[in-house]
Amino acid sequence: MARNGFWYALPLGVAAGILGMIQFGENRVIENAPASEQIADDGRTAVEFTGAERQHIRGEMLGFLNGSQSILDASLTADRQTIKTVASGLAKGKASPLGQAVKQKSPPEFTQLSQGLRQSFGAIALTADTASMAEIQGKLNSGMQKCAACHSGFKAIERNPK
Ligand code: HEC
Repeated sequence: MARNGFWYALPLGVAAGILGMIQFGENRVIENAPASEQIADDGRTAVEFTGAERQHIRGEMLGFLNGSQSILDASLTADRQTIKTVASGLAKGKASPLGQAVKQKSPPEFTQLSQGLRQSFGAIALTADTASMAEIQGKLNSGMQKCAACHSGFKAIERNPK
């Protein structure tokens, strides 16, 4: 009897699981619908994000600005430990639903610049123990070229779901 119960319950469980996946898939698509891009007055590509996503981006950006300054500062005194800690923190970033949503909405070039920036910090962290300070600064420079490139090419505008 208990065995029969199991075999009755099994297809029900599978069906519920599949329904759940479909539901989840639909939610994801709605949440992460590609943002429309448009050309802003100043010629940059404007990418639409929600207010919460913009807030998330600004938080990341302050981390990038402060971290870049700290790395430059530490490179002036050859403080390898600080360089390594700060750079490895910026290389990883934190996985979060907002970060995921931003990624889904961003044009490929935007995402490449953002990933390239994290890779530059990763390269700094990886060589922090051995590289010369000039080499560290060179890597920081190539990372900061991505700040400039992204800011020159893109801006965020707000569109909240109705
Ligand atoms: C892939 C694109 C991209 C890269 C790379 C990038 N930024 Fe940004 N940044 C943005 C966008 C978009 C905003 C506007 C966010 C908003 O206000 O909605 C922004 C905003 C900022 C702000 C303003 C934050 C605030 O509080 O209003 C600062 C400062 C900043 N970025 C610094 C940097 C620095 C420093 C780097 C490199 C180390 C960098 N950014 C790299 C896209 C980028």
